[in-house]
Amino acid sequence: MNILIIGNGGREHALAWKLSQSNRVNHIYLAAGNGGTALETNMSNIAIDPLDFTALVAFTKEKSIDLTVVGPEAPLVKGIVDHFRSEGLLILGPTAAAAQLEGSKYFAKQFMQRYHIPTAQAVLFKNKQAALDYVETHTMPVVIKADGLASGKGVIVAQTLEVAITAIHQFMESTNAQLIIEDYLIGEEVSFIVMSDGETVLPLATSQDHKALLENDQGPNTGGLGAYSPATRVSPALYKKIMKTVILPTILGMKSEGEPYTGFLYAGLMISPNDDFHVLEFNCRLGDPETQAILFRLDSDLASLCLAAVQGDLYEYKAHWKDKIALSVVMASSGYPGEYQKGYRISGLQQSDNPHVKIFHANTLSHHSDVVTAGGRVLCITALGDTLESAQKAAYATVNNIDYTDAYYRRDIGYRSPLNTCVSTTETVSCPCKNQIDL
Ligand code: AMP
Ligand code: GLY
Repeated sequence: MNILIIGNGGREHALAWKLSQSNRVNHIYLAAGNGGTALETNMSNIAIDPLDFTALVAFTKEKSIDLTVVGPEAPLVKGIVDHFRSEGLLILGPTAAAAQLEGSKYFAKQFMQRYHIPTAQAVLFKNKQAALDYVETHTMPVVIKADGLASGKGVIVAQTLEVAITAIHQFMESTNAQLIIEDYLIGEEVSFIVMSDGETVLPLATSQDHKALLENDQGPNTGGLGAYSPATRVSPALYKKIMKTVILPTILGMKSEGEPYTGFLYAGLMISPNDDFHVLEFNCRLGDPETQAILFRLDSDLASLCLAAVQGDLYEYKAHWKDKIALSVVMASSGYPGEYQKGYRISGLQQSDNPHVKIFHANTLSHHSDVVTAGGRVLCITALGDTLESAQKAAYATVNNIDYTDAYYRRDIGYRSPLNTCVSTTETVSCPCKNQIDL
């Protein structure tokens, strides 16, 4: 098979790396890829904008691409899957209608309320004054969420009324704007990601992201500065409950509404100290950097799983996971998630002989014979270990060899997980919604 991957981040480098291990795959193209995928032998970057569907379709036909896999949310929400399908091309991802689970927080909240999926209490507003009146009477903190895609800037956790009022004014600036105001939840966040062909659910290994900029989960929210898999916070009992009360109702609900959900579905969950959980958000794609850790543990053929999800054959597959811990450390540019400089030469990128460590590139560019920084999240160093401690050691040993001006990374990735974690094996179940198999 020839495969086209849409996107240019660490997630897409990891997808390409895992897909390239399949003996069913000949060549992988990335639109537009990064400095890391440019260096891989069986991959080619192509300079096509992920939102230029016409050019992508033309390229797909010209190169006889057998399967397209979409990384980021923007093309999905804009309808890339609908566009490819109308041309008779195989593509993995949700349609624009199904991608509203991420594209519209308003849609997602109403959907969850309709299907009694546990989520924070929320009120939906189309009128600015009504939203302002509401926060005046609500105890702080509250969480204010803009409706559409906002590149990670659409959620404000307001500790004070002043912050809440400013957020409402900011989010309601544009015409037809709408927002939701929801109760503040406490607990530990985990990422629960599955693959679906519209009917069958194949859960991926659990993972936990580190969204805060600073160690100990302090400071502003980022796209994610590190991850590990499995998320030890998710016990086998909790895992079953999440499947039953979140994942299956979502896939069945979308199907019953005539918009079957195909592709990757990511539920961001807040788990309280007493094991209650609520959906914070749905994403219509894989997480970054969760994907890098998850795929490091995957023992099955990813190309076969992706093809099965596109062709509606997922009920015939299971995913097998290494009984090990994978951990990813993101190296960023100082200043991110705010302003930062780029274009700095990166040294120390030579891959060691250790097959259990991989330097995934995110925002890098090949520049003559150098690789240079090109964005906020630059690299994602991923390692596999028998214990969390050994995975941390291997990942940070590689991080310490890499150097560029303004490099920033958290030194505590994995800190929430107990060391020497025992890996649960419940994750290998494939769950056909049709049969509601024994969970
Ligand atoms: P979202 O894009 O909805 O996941 O929100 C981004 C981040 O805001 C989440 O990862 C949480 O850290 C935080 N957040 C969102 N909703 C809530 C909530 N109801 N209570 C507490 N924190 C939240
Ligand atoms: N790491 C969080 C996300 O991909 O949304």
